[in-house]
Amino acid sequence: MLPSSFHIPVMLSEAIESLSVKAGGRYIDCTIGGGGHAAAIMQQSAPGGQLLGIDADPKAIQFAKKRLKEYGSSILLINDNFINLESICFNNDFEPVNGILFDLGLSSLQLNGSSRGFSFQSEAPLDMRFNPNQSITAANIINTLTEAEIAEIIRDYGQEGNYRRIASYITKERPIKTSLKLAQTVVRAVGSRRGKIHPATKTFQALRIAVNNELENLELALKQAVDLLGFEGRLVVISYHSLEDRIVKRYFKRESSNCICPPKVISCTCNHTARLRLINKSVTKPCLKEVKANPRSRSARLRVVERVVNNEEWFVMAERLCFLGKVKAGGRIGMLSQKEPKKTSLVN
Ligand SMILES: C[S@@+](CC[C@H](N)C(=O)[O-])C[C@H]1O[C@@H](n2cnc3c(N)ncnc32)[C@H](O)[C@@H]1O
Repeated sequence: MLPSSFHIPVMLSEAIESLSVKAGGRYIDCTIGGGGHAAAIMQQSAPGGQLLGIDADPKAIQFAKKRLKEYGSSILLINDNFINLESICFNNDFEPVNGILFDLGLSSLQLNGSSRGFSFQSEAPLDMRFNPNQSITAANIINTLTEAEIAEIIRDYGQEGNYRRIASYITKERPIKTSLKLAQTVVRAVGSRRGKIHPATKTFQALRIAVNNELENLELALKQAVDLLGFEGRLVVISYHSLEDRIVKRYFKRESSNCICPPKVISCTCNHTARLRLINKSVTKPCLKEVKANPRSRSARLRVVERVVNNEEWFVMAERLCFLGKVKAGGRIGMLSQKEPKKTSLVN
């Protein structure tokens, strides 16, 4: 039997299929976690596949290093925040790429396997940082912000209706230094039975999002990811709550549109051109079988887009690759060579 801390990769086959993983391709896993998706990418991209794996949590990197040892120098693992995606890739000469995966949120290794305060079911210091070198912890937020500020976090990041009452109980109960004390305080505020989820679920989600700046980080990273994709490169995002999914959905919609003028504008003035193509028009959800086998997958939502390149961008990309010495002027452009726009083809 697997230990409870083992992370089962969510929507694994859907993610690999959506990434359209090819032999010899180059991929980025922005959230390497337990390395489950990464291992499947390596298997599918053999022979010759390469992977850059990122995680903000040094323990995840350590774990993934052991798990993915057999792939040797085909895998590069970096302990960093994915908001630095672009510079990580430039510094390691790892772009353009065939596919990028974000499997957001936290892993079972973090939820169960450590004492970092992510879980409302076990006693631990109220920490909740993915990266232990970051300064702000959940305890800082709970014990130093005003009642109104705490209420706002629980409302905006937890979508919790009882945000005022919970914030009021929290401020009366301070100092709150452990996960169980926080969970008990929430239960006292709202009662112990509220449908299928534990009453503290949304408050814990809100705090984790606030501590790790998760929504802002996602917005910043998505933009960088699109810039790193080669022609027909795929970007796949698995999110676990509607706040994340909304950011992904809106960004994909915007970047796959040829006009982003407000609806009332009669003729287009924005000059926006699509850089992405939607692959799954509506969101993909895990099948019932997966949800039964791994209940943590139940809220997963997968979206996928493909990079398209307009003529103007084609020239900029070609020039950049020439500048970086990745292609001789007038030569073939590696993974970009197969279907370049006809007018601007640089193929000999
Ligand atoms: C759901 S887990 C990924 C699991 C992984 N796909 C697997 O198959 O094992 C999410 C991981 O993303 C990491 N993470 C979350 N936000 C991050 C960020 N902004 N930068 C880097 N890593 C992040 C977490 O530390 C966690 O290890």
